[in-house]
Amino acid sequence: MTTTGPTQTLLILGATGDLTGRLLLPGLGGLLAGTAGSDLLVLGSGMNDWDDERWRRRMSESFAAVDGDRVATTVRETRYLRADVTREDDLRRLLEACRGEVVIFFALPPAVTAAACRALAGVGLPAGTRLVLEKPFGVDQASAAQLNRELAGLVAEEQIHRVDHFLGKSTVLNILGLRFANRILEPVLNADHVAGVDIIFDESLALEGRAGYYDRAGALVDMVQSHLLQVLALLAMDAPPSVEARELRDRKAQVLRATHLWGDDPAASSRRARYTAGELDGRRLPAYAEEAGVDPARETETLAEMVVAVDTWRWSGVPFRLRSGKAMAATRKEAVITFRQPQRVPGGLSGWEQPDRLRIGFGPDRLGLDLNINGPGDPFVIDPVTLDAEFGPGELPPYGEVLKGVLENDPTLSVRGDTAEECWRIVDPVLAAWRAGAVPLGEYAAGSSGPPDSLLPG
Ligand code: BG6
Repeated sequence: MTTTGPTQTLLILGATGDLTGRLLLPGLGGLLAGTAGSDLLVLGSGMNDWDDERWRRRMSESFAAVDGDRVATTVRETRYLRADVTREDDLRRLLEACRGEVVIFFALPPAVTAAACRALAGVGLPAGTRLVLEKPFGVDQASAAQLNRELAGLVAEEQIHRVDHFLGKSTVLNILGLRFANRILEPVLNADHVAGVDIIFDESLALEGRAGYYDRAGALVDMVQSHLLQVLALLAMDAPPSVEARELRDRKAQVLRATHLWGDDPAASSRRARYTAGELDGRRLPAYAEEAGVDPARETETLAEMVVAVDTWRWSGVPFRLRSGKAMAATRKEAVITFRQPQRVPGGLSGWEQPDRLRIGFGPDRLGLDLNINGPGDPFVIDPVTLDAEFGPGELPPYGEVLKGVLENDPTLSVRGDTAEECWRIVDPVLAAWRAGAVPLGEYAAGSSGPPDSLLPG
């Protein structure tokens, strides 16, 4: 495979951590195997006393499913540098080991990222350096704004990539094509025709040894504040003139600025719950509160739900329900647009009461349209049918797609600074209400379908 473009260094801070192993390296492997690109030096850095060999082993394991010259060269050339990234001397040493354009990936908790950015201000960065930050970006609106100010002192906004791997999922990106490349859909995606929108990401996955991160984040921050609000933005924004970074990100920012809690009532428009012991796929799961590393007194939720309003001409009055839960009986990952009932159904037809629904599945990647038709049997009795289409997976894994944007200096799939703050502005009142005990922490058994009732108004 030929190489193009300048030499680059991807400097991974937090290289020995969970995120690097679970998502970043597999995504990088997919990208290296699937694309031509510049000569890439990957440097791993962490506090652990690893050597090059140990780090190379981790990389090889993550790249096990891919191959090709670019993959092999990257593994051969990679190095590990032990460093405390909150110390200027250590950061200087790391930057000296880089060659060509520098891309710094902060695979670190928010507090360490913020401290590293402050230390970088004293070090100075080579021209053109790009900074890549993982979620959560800050811990609330004020800390996100503060982090944005610190980053702005280091590099220009276009050089900052706030990663949300949902933006690299092919079905999430397909929302654009679905909405704006179909004459029959776009005219009905508004408050005149839509009764409500659900964006649901229920996983059968439980904690998976991630207590260190998850017990401080919880479902609201882990999924809703980040990924699901990004999906909402794509579903609710107006058509951009092009999918060029500025146009797309302007439209997303606009719709998020118009989004707020339903009735501006955090207690009535949100719900939280935590799983108790249960059975999942034939396995016995302990209660979340009993998992290793969990502090039950933190009352971290494993299921979060909130309803928001999008106050634009298009969506005024339509509730958007966002929900994500862990250890659920069935994986359900989809956005469902529920249409209003027809204006009038001719007398004499029965069985049409189920509303039409458009379902966009985020894994499996599929599209479904629930319709009412004159089905088999009595022609005057309506039967529901679903028109179904399966999508193939994207060419790259979601993390690979996002990293491609980072390495090619294309911020289209990155979250812009103002948007990151808006997403916190939307959820901060919920976090405050929960902390104040205004919303009781509910329970659901692991392996169940979660709390039964819905928060959807009407
Ligand atoms: C991550 C969350 O960002 O997204 C996880 O931290 C979650 O808790 C995951 O399981 C879901 O995304 P995907 O792409 O793995 O389905």
